[in-house]
Amino acid sequence: MAMINDSMVTALNEQVRREFQAAQNYLAMGVHLDGKSLEHLAAFFYRQADEEREHAMKLVRYLLDLGHQPTIPAIELPPGEFEGIKDIVQASLTQEQAVTRAIHELVDGALTAKDHATYQFLLWFVDEQVEEEASFGKLLDIIDMSENVLQVEHYVRHMGAEGEGGGEAEA
Ligand SMILES: [Fe+2]
Ligand SMILES: [Fe+2]
Repeated sequence: MAMINDSMVTALNEQVRREFQAAQNYLAMGVHLDGKSLEHLAAFFYRQADEEREHAMKLVRYLLDLGHQPTIPAIELPPGEFEGIKDIVQASLTQEQAVTRAIHELVDGALTAKDHATYQFLLWFVDEQVEEEASFGKLLDIIDMSENVLQVEHYVRHMGAEGEGGGEAEA
């Protein structure tokens, strides 16, 4: 069994919390959009929420595999009010950037501790964050180029059909 130090266990549990928090935030955003009849944008955020939960469970599984009991954290209330689609996507990108910084700090910690197993495990998250930031950055570009939210909805519908942002086809 790979050795992993106590501060790394704490840091990984903290990342579990961040991923569940991201999942709840995206779920709240999805529900908000669903309530505005923007079903394809809503579906995009529901997929993001599912992905974040998978990220959390990946970390939970890793801790279990190493014989550490993960803690399932309490989650702060997600934001309930949103100004509009641009604010939602900008807040998402900001959240992803914060998660990227957290992941990089975890990687730094693993390198310092010569914790090769955790280092290797975290590289998947490093790659994933590049994709996550790119996907929200692209959506922000599309919003800036669009005349109204229906054009964004159309774009996201098409994006879903091509399998981006989660791979599940949208009819
Ligand atoms: Fe994540
Ligand atoms: Fe993410």
